[in-house]
Amino acid sequence: MKAIRKVGVLGGGLMGSGIAQVSAQAGFDTVVREISDAIIEKSRSGIEKVLAKGIERGKVTPEARDSALAHLRFTTELGALAECDIIIEAVVEDLDMKNAMWKDLHAICPPETIFASNTSSLTIAAMAAACGRPERMLGLHFFNPVPLMKLVEVVRTITTSDETVDTAFEFAKKLGKEPIRAKDNSGFVVNLLLIPYMLDAINALESNVASVEDIDKAMQFGAGHPMGPFTLLDFVGLDTTYKIAEIMFAEYREKRYAPPPLLKRMVIAGMYGRKSGKGFYDYSVDPPKVNSLGI
Ligand code: NAI
Repeated sequence: MKAIRKVGVLGGGLMGSGIAQVSAQAGFDTVVREISDAIIEKSRSGIEKVLAKGIERGKVTPEARDSALAHLRFTTELGALAECDIIIEAVVEDLDMKNAMWKDLHAICPPETIFASNTSSLTIAAMAAACGRPERMLGLHFFNPVPLMKLVEVVRTITTSDETVDTAFEFAKKLGKEPIRAKDNSGFVVNLLLIPYMLDAINALESNVASVEDIDKAMQFGAGHPMGPFTLLDFVGLDTTYKIAEIMFAEYREKRYAPPPLLKRMVIAGMYGRKSGKGFYDYSVDPPKVNSLGI
């Protein structure tokens, strides 16, 4: 099995900065590639803030923070990732952009370097076919917020070698995560089960089964979920949910993955959930209140 010492992260956005943080905290030399110095500063200060909060809450020691920051380096140069043993890609969800980067990296990285994508909805096979090293390409699907969420889906496609899967699985464990193995099917495991559940909640609302608040309460107090489906939808982002549902519907052609009309209309109206201030709840007031939606 390949020894992982140096980790490359492509993209220092929401997911990339979380992945870089847990990698540096686990003691791996970690290089993050972003596209501008301004984004690098945002990413670095975001990680510093999360670590500072960790210290406030007694979850991170000042020494652990200093060690993590010492293991972390940012760059705009793709060439700085040439010596990494594994490169995890967390750039925007655009296959052409991802594949262009894999092609460039294939030209400068040794053949053993593992390429991993954090994509939520693209097919790993489409990257494996384009990256030049199909046996060393796989999915490593982290969850948001990365430092808190324990799960990593280790996704093998039809060309991924056993050694690549085993190495990535052990690496995820060293990050303090709980890895599981999944096939390169649209939605992997979590979204395969979670997307129809969230869409069903919207369908139930459209059919007037109960109100937003009561459906949320029902799943919280009747099924023991930490939050109800509408609170969860607002966290995940309605735009993201819509996009993933469309991709899953196109793959499986099953009604259970079809985005309900209400979801589509909310996305058109710019109601993306927490990130835009309004979704099923209105976050401009504290505590958030249910958004009437005219229904
Ligand atoms: P984001 O938009 O927060 O971050 C993407 C970053 O990529 C941006 O900072 C952008 O500047 C950077 N970028 C663009 N082109 C680049 C390049 N050529 N080289 C280096 N960096 C580049 O997006 P987010 O949410 O972090 O998503 C990233 C990936 O993770 C996507 O594939 C998404 O599907 C996946 N994902 C997202 C989750 C979420 O909850 N947001 C959960 C799990 C996976």
